[in-house]
Amino acid sequence: MTTVCVAGATGWAGRAVAEAVLASQDLVLRGAVSRSAAGRDLGDAWRQAPVGVVVVGDVTQALAGIDVLVDYTAPASTKGIAMAAIEAGVHVVIGSSGLSAADFEDIDAAARASGVGVVAAGNFSLTAAMAQAAALLVARFLPQREIIDYASAGKPDAPSGTARELAERLGAVSTHPLVVPVSEIVGHPEARGASIGGTQVHSLRLPSFVVSTEIVFAQADERLTIRHDAGGTPTPYVAGTLLAVRAVPSVVGLIRGLDTLLLGA
Ligand SMILES: NC(=O)c1ccc[n+]([C@@H]2O[C@H](COP(=O)([O-])OP(=O)(O)OC[C@H]3O[C@@H](n4cnc5c(N)ncnc54)[C@H](OP(=O)(O)O)[C@@H]3O)[C@@H](O)[C@H]2O)c1
Repeated sequence: MTTVCVAGATGWAGRAVAEAVLASQDLVLRGAVSRSAAGRDLGDAWRQAPVGVVVVGDVTQALAGIDVLVDYTAPASTKGIAMAAIEAGVHVVIGSSGLSAADFEDIDAAARASGVGVVAAGNFSLTAAMAQAAALLVARFLPQREIIDYASAGKPDAPSGTARELAERLGAVSTHPLVVPVSEIVGHPEARGASIGGTQVHSLRLPSFVVSTEIVFAQADERLTIRHDAGGTPTPYVAGTLLAVRAVPSVVGLIRGLDTLLLGA
């Protein structure tokens, strides 16, 4: 039995993951973290029957006896929570967005030093992982591309974890200089988006979107677009997160991207 603590267990994604852990045969929910629900039973915090897990507000109080910590909190807290778990010898699955490539380098180094595994994915949906794997394949042959990241008007971070991870990983496959460098753009250069790993990324924040990610590849006279659209529930992220929870105890250091985990690359 693998013991699991979910940080962000009262949130939109974390609750769905915690419920799935409770329902599974091989995983045990042993801890839950949320500041506003600290001291309450997690089921009570969900306005349901008690589940026998008392929520704590600080992750360091929840790590004893835990094999895997899952983080679905917020961009500002994720790195600190992951580092606390790693230092305590606990494997980590990171679902929260907002970490930079430099943050992931720090996390990888700390995980290797502690001999624990970390699996991080900007998108734990299995179909998003397929889209990402396809994009990484195409980038070997079509280096000119841009990413459009669509999300709800209230999303606090930009770009999305999905788009950021994709841009950084595409940059490791191939790069192509912009025909007109951003510094030479006439008008509003910021309209060309952010350059992440050598790819221009454009974030739209509008009502009605959840998270959609579009990668437009192009060469003379033809284009290829790969697009993933998430619906309005956290269901798509649960299976991929549990897959990572089950795999991470066999990992040392950081694996980034659910597709990397699935393909064993
Ligand atoms: N990788 C993926 O597939 C995927 C899928 C969905 C979402 N996400 C990402 O996951 C993150 C969470 O998204 P969400 O929509 O579930 O957010 P949410 O509904 O706002 O939930 C956030 C949860 O984290 C807790 N939390 C926030 N800050 C905390 C802190 N400093 N210490 C302890 N607990 C803290 C919140 O409780 P309190 O406020 O009471 O502390 C709440 O339980 C976001 O970064 C989002 O982009 C990733």
